[in-house]
Amino acid sequence: MPAVVIVGAQWGDEGKGKATDLLGDRIDYVVKFNGGNNAGHTVVIGDETYALHLLPSGILTPGVTPVIGNGVVVDLDVLAEELDGLEARGLDVSKLMVSSHAHVVTLYHRTLDKVTERFLGKRQIGTTGRGIGPTYADKINRVGIRIQDLFDEGILRQKVEGALEQKNHLLVKVYNRRAIEVDEVVTELLAHRERLAPMVADTSLELNKALDRGDTVLFEGGQATMLDVDHGTYPFVTSSNATSGGAATGAGVAPWRLTSIVGIIKAYTTRVGSGPFPTELDDASGDWLRDRGHEFGTTTGRPRRTGWFDAPIARYATRVNGITDYVLTKLDVLTGLEEIPVCVGYEVDGKKVDDVPWSQSDFHHATPIYESFPGWSENIEGAREFSDLPQAAQDYVTRLEDLMGQRVSVIGVGPSRDAVIVRHDLLPSS
Ligand code: GDP
Ligand code: IMO
Ligand code: MG
Repeated sequence: MPAVVIVGAQWGDEGKGKATDLLGDRIDYVVKFNGGNNAGHTVVIGDETYALHLLPSGILTPGVTPVIGNGVVVDLDVLAEELDGLEARGLDVSKLMVSSHAHVVTLYHRTLDKVTERFLGKRQIGTTGRGIGPTYADKINRVGIRIQDLFDEGILRQKVEGALEQKNHLLVKVYNRRAIEVDEVVTELLAHRERLAPMVADTSLELNKALDRGDTVLFEGGQATMLDVDHGTYPFVTSSNATSGGAATGAGVAPWRLTSIVGIIKAYTTRVGSGPFPTELDDASGDWLRDRGHEFGTTTGRPRRTGWFDAPIARYATRVNGITDYVLTKLDVLTGLEEIPVCVGYEVDGKKVDDVPWSQSDFHHATPIYESFPGWSENIEGAREFSDLPQAAQDYVTRLEDLMGQRVSVIGVGPSRDAVIVRHDLLPSS
């Protein structure tokens, strides 16, 4: 039974939201398995543009059951706002299920995220400031608050007290901030309890039952391979597993259930926040890509850093995720370039390497080795078959397939829902 994982293959914002939406009406469940409202997915449906953060993009398709898995960290204020926003636009959000095991982002997590970043100064990660790192840190440190704790007020208060005892020392003595009151946090959380109650579920049980019935489940990853806490450019990463393995742990399904792993990759590269980025362009070409691709963050509005396609990163993503199909997005953005440089390997200390170096210090000063491909000038937004693309665009895609070591099954040629070329169906028939 199809259980499809969608993962970002670069540093995020590859177009995962659009890819999920593309499969929308053929899936029964869509599960967000990692991250929180640090994600930002823009989905364009007809004249309507939706910006989603915490909710999985599948919520935009009627009939789909959206699920927030145990691997997600949930800011309840944001959840309420997003649900209100979608309801106001006429969407039915009543089917949403939220894992009882998911952790909750509170006021002190958001505060700590911001003050620690400020404290790091030049060494800052450039986080989204949404409290994501501190919430995952508490989870691993076994002092987190889970969704289910809201339904046992005594336990909730006890846990918040325990957490704040530590955190207030830090906030007051180290960061010179005001102490946060237990009541302030408890009241804020309990305010959401009534609305949340019907959504809370054992989502692992529900998803396994759905898979047993033969339903189709899509696992939607936030962030991306190079932002994964284990496999990304640590410490310039997010605090969860954004790679395909995270789908199993973050949703409570066995790895053998997963039938395909779809990697979403842009025809060039972007990154938000700090950290190494070998193909980054600090010149007019970089500005051109940012302008043409509208590369400004959906969550923070920050200009995204831009650069050429990086094949070693794609190969790395193919390997650590086990990618079975790629969706290559934003090919249309490259229209008009005479030549398109692609990074095929790196030079590190005078040596040529094909793979992402295991040493972060080496990766920091890896210089790209480029091959250039002929560009095209024809508008490709209307292309719906691979053969509709100009020969140069077809050759570019074929060359990327060779370099990535996996096929490109879908090509994005514009932001709208239908601006895609489907070469192979992403939903394997059962
Ligand atoms: P996500 O975080 O991976 O879901 O990606 P974002 O939504 O943050 O950023 C991707 C942006 O690219 C969105 O604004 C999409 O509407 C847009 N987009 C997606 N696919 C294409 C495409 O093929 N061409 C163009 N021009 N825009 C696209
Ligand atoms: P989507 O799902 C791009 C980046 C931040 C920062 C680092 C850590 O839209 O692809 P965090 O707030 O997670 O602790 O920040 O990760 N980051 C993203 N960059 N797209 C995202 O999500 C991101 N989520 C986090 O910019 O560098
Ligand atoms: Mg995004």
